[in-house]
Amino acid sequence: MATETPAQDVYAPAPGVVAQANIKSYAEVAQQAEHDLAGFWAERAEEFVWYKKWDKVLDDSNPPFYKWFVGGKTNVVANCLDIHQTTWRRNKLALIWEGEDGDLRTFSYHALNREVCRFANVLRSMGVQKGDRVTIYMGRVPELPIAMLACAKVGAVHSVVYGGFSVDALASRIEDSESHVAITCDGGYMNGKIVELKKIMDEALKRCATVEQVIVVKRSGQPVTMESGRDYWYHDLMNLPVARANNGGYKCSTEEMDAEDPLYLLYTSGTTGKPKAILHTHGGYMVGIATTLKWVFDIKEDDRWWCAADPGWVTGHSYIVYGPLLLGATSFMYEGAPTYPYPNRWWSMIEKYGINILYAAPTAIRGLMRFGEAWPNRHDLSSLRLLGSVGEPINPEAWRWYYRVIGKERAPIMDTWWQTETGMFMITPLPVTPLKPGSATKPFPGVEADVLSEEGKPVAEGEEGYLVLKKPWPAMLRTIYKDPERYVQQYWRKFPGAYFTGDSARKDRDGYFWIIGRVDDVIKVSGYRLGTAEIESALVSHPAVAEAAAIGLPHEVRGNAIHAYVLLRTGHEPSEQLNDELRQHVAHEIGPIARPEKINFVNGLPKTRSGKIMRRVLRARALGLPEGDLTTLED
Ligand code: WT7
Repeated sequence: MATETPAQDVYAPAPGVVAQANIKSYAEVAQQAEHDLAGFWAERAEEFVWYKKWDKVLDDSNPPFYKWFVGGKTNVVANCLDIHQTTWRRNKLALIWEGEDGDLRTFSYHALNREVCRFANVLRSMGVQKGDRVTIYMGRVPELPIAMLACAKVGAVHSVVYGGFSVDALASRIEDSESHVAITCDGGYMNGKIVELKKIMDEALKRCATVEQVIVVKRSGQPVTMESGRDYWYHDLMNLPVARANNGGYKCSTEEMDAEDPLYLLYTSGTTGKPKAILHTHGGYMVGIATTLKWVFDIKEDDRWWCAADPGWVTGHSYIVYGPLLLGATSFMYEGAPTYPYPNRWWSMIEKYGINILYAAPTAIRGLMRFGEAWPNRHDLSSLRLLGSVGEPINPEAWRWYYRVIGKERAPIMDTWWQTETGMFMITPLPVTPLKPGSATKPFPGVEADVLSEEGKPVAEGEEGYLVLKKPWPAMLRTIYKDPERYVQQYWRKFPGAYFTGDSARKDRDGYFWIIGRVDDVIKVSGYRLGTAEIESALVSHPAVAEAAAIGLPHEVRGNAIHAYVLLRTGHEPSEQLNDELRQHVAHEIGPIARPEKINFVNGLPKTRSGKIMRRVLRARALGLPEGDLTTLED
């Protein structure tokens, strides 16, 4: 990876971009935030509607259980939709959506609000109340943001499970969240094929008993089983009288929420096999994501913003759904694969819709780069003013291609480092920041990041160490749902007083951060976060497997690919067929993104004397690197 040698070249911001930037001087705002963190964020929070103003900006009396805008009452939806209904924005497009099959649907702020109100009324009529969890497992269709917003509006806590996940991943997330209501689609389009979402939901519900009602959005139209008394079509419910308010209009009251009330749970992978639910709130989250989006991507009133992530991940939550609506912006959303039907799909949509800002993952850029420049060059991409990158380090080669071929050397690339846990961008350029390809540059104003040694001391300039965050921020996770001890243990114990990110990084002489990658048992595949333990547990759930270990090895397009080492039970022999079967088994249990690239049948796994698999040794061997300290190895 080219992050190894910080590139010498620096890209100065384009004069045109600086002239109209929302923030003209990074140093100025960063200084203000450093001197008065609470004052800095209070000023940002003033821009929103609060049913009742907060008493205290930051309560840090019980770290790491920080609270923001304590005593304040609001609802993120009051600021995403309600406030826009009484201004000219009711006529502005909130969402432009294109289906993989070319379908086009658009929603003005008025129309989006109407749909959200209807669905919120439906949810209330089904008994969904403040604090209830609702699982959402859908394809990338407009009903996904509508469902999220409707939940938030009635004060329910949504738990979106990425539509690429499969039975086991879905079942364990539903079970942990104890949702009574689940929302899904019949099927979703992806790469010309149909993902059988309802069928997967049916299988998952056989494994967990909490769900009583399932709402099904019709998208693909393929036959599905509807269990009477449990399953309801979305379009039927939306046309019932309950979808309308008492006076017959499509209105619905927005629940008044405490700033610290939960907005959503989002499951992510960590070091154990059990996925953890990251909990985000209404108040601080809203302030954090709107401010970062406005400053980093410089959103203007007439912009068309495209965050090409999946709404099922935090990137989509913060920057497809909530962030753009908070700013009253126009967001574009695309259902399908970047290469369907041809590798120019993204570029043709940028031209067709006049997209001004594109925010994408390095893996997508690398994937499209493979097809050559001719595809983007067939299209007019001159509407693009800013570009963005997220999810993993972007290698300088892909950075330069993105900059030259897509941005035509005019559009700076905002390489934003953050996590499901942080909710908002943490280390990121602003449009006025000089860029170095491969570096996420500097902490966002108010964020204090550092690189520490094992002993918790700041490392020397240019040296690798653990990336930590030293001050609380408003969009931070508040806890791991139902497991506050794991929250403390996972993030706050390694370095007292600091949040440990799980990443390693380096800081150069200009104070620029270079993210290297995960140091825990998390593998980033195409920007998706997977735990080695989840993959291993899926493998050992197959009758032929006795033991398994999973590691990530470099992959040209996906960043990392999963390589598994499998010890078979007696009576089972390695074969090509079993190899395929095991890879398929993991895909069926977790989802296609978790399908191992390669399975190696082995006679034993390197373990510590206490029986812990030494994945580091497997990795070193696979890469032909020194195996390091082996004194704890069992034999
Ligand atoms: C991990 C968090 C943040 C939304 C999507 C991923 C890696 C994220 C960058 C970046 C280098 C990055 C880190 C981080 N990561 N952005 N710009 N440069 N690495 O969220 O699934 O919670 O993953 O993604 O390793 O810890 P996530």
